[in-house]
Amino acid sequence: MASEELLLIPGPTNLSREVRDAMSRPQISHTSAEFYSTFKEILDLARYAFRNEKGFQYAFTGSGTLGMESAVVSLVGHGDRTLTVSNGYFGKRMLMLNQVHGAKADALDYADGCPADPDDLRRKLKSARYKAVFITHVDTSTSVVNPLKPLVEECKSAGVLSVVDSVCGVGGQPLDFDALGADIAFTATQKAIAGPPGAVLLAASSQALNHIQKREGEIESYYMSLARWKPIMEDPKIYLATPAIQIFLALRVALSQLKDEGLELRWERHRALGSTVRKRLGELGVDFVAESGSRADTVTAFWVEDGKAGNVQKVLEATHHIVVAKGIGDTREKMIRIGHFGVLTLERLRSAMDPIEQVLLAEGVAVRKGTPLQTKP
Ligand SMILES: Cc1ncc(COP(=O)(O)O)c(C=O)c1O
Repeated sequence: MASEELLLIPGPTNLSREVRDAMSRPQISHTSAEFYSTFKEILDLARYAFRNEKGFQYAFTGSGTLGMESAVVSLVGHGDRTLTVSNGYFGKRMLMLNQVHGAKADALDYADGCPADPDDLRRKLKSARYKAVFITHVDTSTSVVNPLKPLVEECKSAGVLSVVDSVCGVGGQPLDFDALGADIAFTATQKAIAGPPGAVLLAASSQALNHIQKREGEIESYYMSLARWKPIMEDPKIYLATPAIQIFLALRVALSQLKDEGLELRWERHRALGSTVRKRLGELGVDFVAESGSRADTVTAFWVEDGKAGNVQKVLEATHHIVVAKGIGDTREKMIRIGHFGVLTLERLRSAMDPIEQVLLAEGVAVRKGTPLQTKP
């Protein structure tokens, strides 16, 4: 039964009872005083979650992909040269979005699990005049975490705008928007924030806003224009499009719970979640996708023999009511991904690791200590 399942997929994640309850109330109006104050509170709480005191804060209805595309279409015009640092499925998607919107889109490509190297970025930024660089914080497809600070520093020294996709970061993997100095960072609600899917939270620097205001040529989108959404963030009474009210009501609760826990403590809990999964799987001898030292605290991906991922997933779900994810794209049948974020407690994770280990051993995709399987494709 769905209600008994433990979701250990890399989003959407398990919701607290309070977050669920917030969605099952009679409908309220988007122009009501209650919704107005909910919206305002979400923006304040999102500032807390991003550590965004200096920049501007957005919240709008849509999935993480809308965050990606609104950043691209708002900053980039036809013929602008952009660079996407790509080390997984979501980097590739970002590159594709740049292409879709007419950018001369270059990629700084890395193999699955390999973090980006700031020296490579510096060299690349010297080779052409780029308008913006797009970086994924944690690529959920491989669980690699990129060294954001030095990468953004390279962009700043080259005078290039930087955009961070932190859909699998904010609320779990440390991100401090003000200290980082990126121009745009965004997340979606269904991962470490532990809200339902359906809203984008996006932070923008004043430099990004200036650029958007002064750019040559219209932003070629209505709904995805950050310029068009700006007045709504200043006064949520203004109508642009009907927000997903229930999602926002639940998001307010999820963000309040995040603040009640405290961001530092939440990061610490996620560090403990990440290291527990890595330790337990490491003892089994699994072959992690992300390089050592660049493994995320929010998601863990590992290789399994081609074709085995589906069995592991099925058995865990049917026998233990634990839902894990397979790979994404080409790696679908040869990778397993475990999401460990949101409201997941260390205790709950530890108890789920026992059946996960049993099933991995029974399916023959991992071996005991010290003799890792050579399963990398
Ligand atoms: C890093 C990253 N970026 C973007 C997205 C796209 O988000 P959505 O599926 O909510 O559109 C995801 C989704 O998992 C993601 O993990």
